[in-house]
Order: sequence, then C-alpha cells, then structure tokens
Amino acid sequence: MAIGTMPTQGMSLDLTEEHEMLQQAVRKFAQEQIAPIAPEFDETGDFPLETIRQAGQMGLMGIEVPEDYGGAGMDTIAYVLTMIEISRADASHGTIVSVNNSLFNNAIMKFGTEEQIRSYVTPVATGEKIGAYSLTEPMSGSDAGTMKSRAVLNDAGTHYIINGRKSWVTSGPVADTVLLFTMTEPEKKHKGITCFIIETDKPGFIRGKKEPKLGIRASATSELVFENYEAPVESILGEPGQGFKIAMSVLDAGRIGIASQAIGIAEAAYEASVQYAREREAFGSPIGSFQMIQQKIADMKTRIEASRLLTYNAALAKMRAAETGERFTTEASMAKLFASETAMWVATQAVQIHGGMGYSKELPVERYFRDAKITEIYEGTSEIQRMVIARSELGLR
Ligand code: CAA
Repeated sequence: MAIGTMPTQGMSLDLTEEHEMLQQAVRKFAQEQIAPIAPEFDETGDFPLETIRQAGQMGLMGIEVPEDYGGAGMDTIAYVLTMIEISRADASHGTIVSVNNSLFNNAIMKFGTEEQIRSYVTPVATGEKIGAYSLTEPMSGSDAGTMKSRAVLNDAGTHYIINGRKSWVTSGPVADTVLLFTMTEPEKKHKGITCFIIETDKPGFIRGKKEPKLGIRASATSELVFENYEAPVESILGEPGQGFKIAMSVLDAGRIGIASQAIGIAEAAYEASVQYAREREAFGSPIGSFQMIQQKIADMKTRIEASRLLTYNAALAKMRAAETGERFTTEASMAKLFASETAMWVATQAVQIHGGMGYSKELPVERYFRDAKITEIYEGTSEIQRMVIARSELGLR
C-alpha cells in the first residue's frame, strides 16, 4: 500500500504514481524556473511575483483545495512533496507557497462559508491573488493569546472597527487578502479572539515597515497597521471568539509545511556537500575519502531521512484527522521540531564541508545556512514545539 492511497488503514514508503508525477513536475519547474533566479531575489529582497503566479497556474498554490474551487484536489503528502521541491530550489518561494496553502486556504476551507471559499480561496489557489496570515504582534509572539489589537462592534451591529499593529506577516507587503486574528472581547482572553478576512484595498489598512531579514529575503515580511478599519460582520471567519482555536489548528497544518520546507533546504545543502566532497581535493585525495567528512555525510543523510518520515507521519495524521476530527498537533510539532533543527544542523555542516567556499556568496550554501534558521523560529519556535509535545505527553493540555 503506497502513501496516500489508504491513509487511514496503512502505509508503506512508496509514493503513488500520481505523487511521483507531481514530484517530478514540481522538481522540473523549481529547478528550471526558480533555482536560477533565487540568488538575485535573495540579494534584492524583491517579491518573486511572476514565478509565484506560475506556481498558481500549475495548481501549487491550492494543492489540497478541491478542483471545484480552483485547486489541485490532492492530498497532504502531495503538499509535502511540493514544499520540499520548491524549497530545495528556493526557501523564499517555499515560505510564500506554504502560507497560501496551509495557513490561508486551509483556514478558509475548514472554517469558511461557501461564499467565503469562492470569494477568497479560489483566487489564491489559482495564483491570481496572494493571501496572508496575521497573528503575531510586536509584544505577542509565542504567547499568541495576549494580543493588543482590538475590534469593536459598532452601535448598529453591522461592522467591527479594527485598530492595532501586527508584525512579521509573510507576504504582508503584497497580500490581497489577510486572515487577521484580533481581540473582540479582551476580558475573555484567548476566548475573545476573532478571525476576520481582511480586504487590503479598503481604507484603514496600512502596510507597515518591511522587515530587513537574515534569510528567506524574497518572501516579503512586514508589519500591518489597522486604523479604524471597518470589517463587516460577514467577514468573520467561523464564529466570534473562535479565533484562537482557528489560529492554532491552522498552525498545526502550517507546521507540516515548515517541516517540508526544512527538508527541502537540508536536501539542497546535502546535495551540494556530496558533490563538493567528491570533487574537492586536499592532501592528494577527494575530501570525501576522509572519515571526518564521511561522518558528516552519513549523519546529514540519516537526519534528513528521519525528518522525511516524521513529516510523512504528520501528513498522514492530518489526512486521518479530516475523517475522525482528531487533532494532529503532536505529530505536526514533532515533524517541525526535528526537521527544522535538522535543516539548521545540515546547513551548518554544509558550510563547514565547503570551507571558505561555504562562506562565499559565489555558492548557494551560505544562503541555505541563512534560510534554514527561520524554520526553527516561525510558526512556533523549537521551544514552543517542545512545550506542545511535552504538554501532550504529560496530559497537561
Ligand atoms: N488545535 C485546536 N485547539 C487548540 C490547539 C490546537 N493545536 N492548541 C490549543 N488549542 C486550544 C486549547 O484546547 C484551549 O482550548 P480551551 O480554552 O477550550 O480549553 C485553548 O486553545 C488554549 O490553549 P492553551 O491553554 O494551550 O494556550 P496557551 O496560551 O498556553 O498557548 C501555545 C499554547 C502552544 C503556546 C500557542 O500559543 C502557540 O502555539 N504559540 C506559538 C504561536 C506561533 O506559532 N506563532 C507563529 C505565528 S505565524 C508566523 O510565524 C508568521 C507567518 O506569516 C508564517
């Protein structure tokens, strides 16, 4: 039984024919169209709109969205394979693909009305529009329930008036639609958070400072400022007060995407290292003939494969959850934790194997090193993933 054919009843490590075809198509697209432009976009920090639109036309911005709504109608394993291939070529593209698929589309598909799905998911799934997910604030990151932004219902009961500042929003400088998490009833703490679908061409929505970043520099990140933005009650996703649960359950899916991104970065760093270890000579032999390099290669390969299995496991748990309604929080956190720490470790070894050339901008290895770091931070730091896993194991949630 191959992965994805009967996810609730068993699995082997073989991909289905459909998965393999997707993997090859995405690899070809990513290596031919994305990899060559990655260094330039890393340097300028410009948003790669053209290749993101191409990805949308291929169905890659709505992998799990049903075909009726403009998506590819595939499963979570397909999403994992796509994220690995895109991120192997360029992690910045991986970030943009990830947020649109697993945070934006996934949230509206799961909690939205038919009208909201047609209005907001379809244009993002087809690559015409860009979506974003806005939870973090300057003083509320890991402790996501303590946000300061506010939405107050007007006297007529028709609109919420939103004020506040959000930060670290992926695609914030370009997004057409934003999922905004903000407080509607502060006295209820996390139970007073509501999710709004924000149209960014309306008055009161202001794009704030663009973050100058260490890595994933082409995935534009910014603050968003709300000044008396009027959100109609119909723009609420789910129910008032349901926002924190929406944010958390969607992040479970997002973390599978980041685990996959981490695998893609690690694979790129590993492949460059194997090639270099074969070609570079020192003391009259290829450096790959030395046991200290061999140990690194063996450990890099093993940790990448372990990350892949944990990520497939989380993807299968998510697919089962669609049938049973159970949570896959722990599986997603374990995959994200292990894969992101693997990406950082593998990229560090890759720089070391390349020596001075690993530190040079002439090769992409230093970019993999800078890009890998974010996977240990966003969508929940490694410390938060450990907290989530331990709380679950100890029965504390
Ligand atoms: N699914 C569904 N419900 C969940 C949940 C999940 N994964 N996790 C928690 N909940 C529910 C709980 O069941 C609980 O419900 P009740 O009130 O009904 O009991 C409620 O939410 C509160 O849960 P906790 O008490 O566990 O909440 P907490 O305040 O202790 O926080 C946390 C838990 C795990 C630390 C959480 O705050 C967290 O994950 N923080 C990290 C946030 C994060 O990942 N931020 C990144 C933002 S996105 C980004 O990086 C930018 C980008 O653009 C990519």
